[in-house]
Amino acid sequence: MRINKFIAQSGITSRRKADELILQGKVKVNGAVLTEPGYDCKEDDLVEVDGKIVKLEAEKVYYLLNKPTGYVTTAKDQSDRPIILDLMEDVDQRVFPVGRLDMNTSGIIIMTNDGDLSYKVSHPKHNLYKTYRALISGELTMKKLAKLERGVDIGGYITAPAKVKVVKKLQNSTVVEISIMEGKNRQVRKMFKAVGNPVQELERIAIGNIKIGKLSLGHYRKLRPDEIEYLKGI
Ligand code: URA
Repeated sequence: MRINKFIAQSGITSRRKADELILQGKVKVNGAVLTEPGYDCKEDDLVEVDGKIVKLEAEKVYYLLNKPTGYVTTAKDQSDRPIILDLMEDVDQRVFPVGRLDMNTSGIIIMTNDGDLSYKVSHPKHNLYKTYRALISGELTMKKLAKLERGVDIGGYITAPAKVKVVKKLQNSTVVEISIMEGKNRQVRKMFKAVGNPVQELERIAIGNIKIGKLSLGHYRKLRPDEIEYLKGI
């Protein structure tokens, strides 16, 4: 098996990033720095990435987790805040989140040990819409809605076209759904702030065709085979 595939299948990173690591001289085979990105791994080769021994994880696993607010999506937290992996202690494989959600955002996140799939799903070029339900302050006029859909300036960056719909008008706030294909830091919050309707609550309810459904907060389920195929095929 080609070395980049070997590294990707071990769940560390994508094939493309594995190639970069090789070029950076961070990959060793049998104790020697690898200089050949096309190297074909033998069964008994000892592969090290950044000084750590890499082993193949035979089984790829894919889960959908409904993250509650208050949890961070990083693997460790310096301030000891709860991490989403605490919610998945029953899973044997070393899974990691595909993309991220803010601590104050709830909703679905894909957890896997498949580095290639993670890279694919996170890359904006695949035009995978992520849908959020937001409680925003004030009323969202048609003009603001159109502006959000066209693209707004979130601090030196104009967002790509989005889909926005008003779900419910409340007395001093509005429930809206917004679908975006990018994932800039705090993007949804910044977009609504840019039009003068700050977000009060934010939940991700869909990743492409994969919907939150009846998955309760803090729980996870396996992705169905058709959902895995869908993500692999985007
Ligand atoms: N946009 C945000 O502002 N926060 C998230 O967590 C995700 C998208």
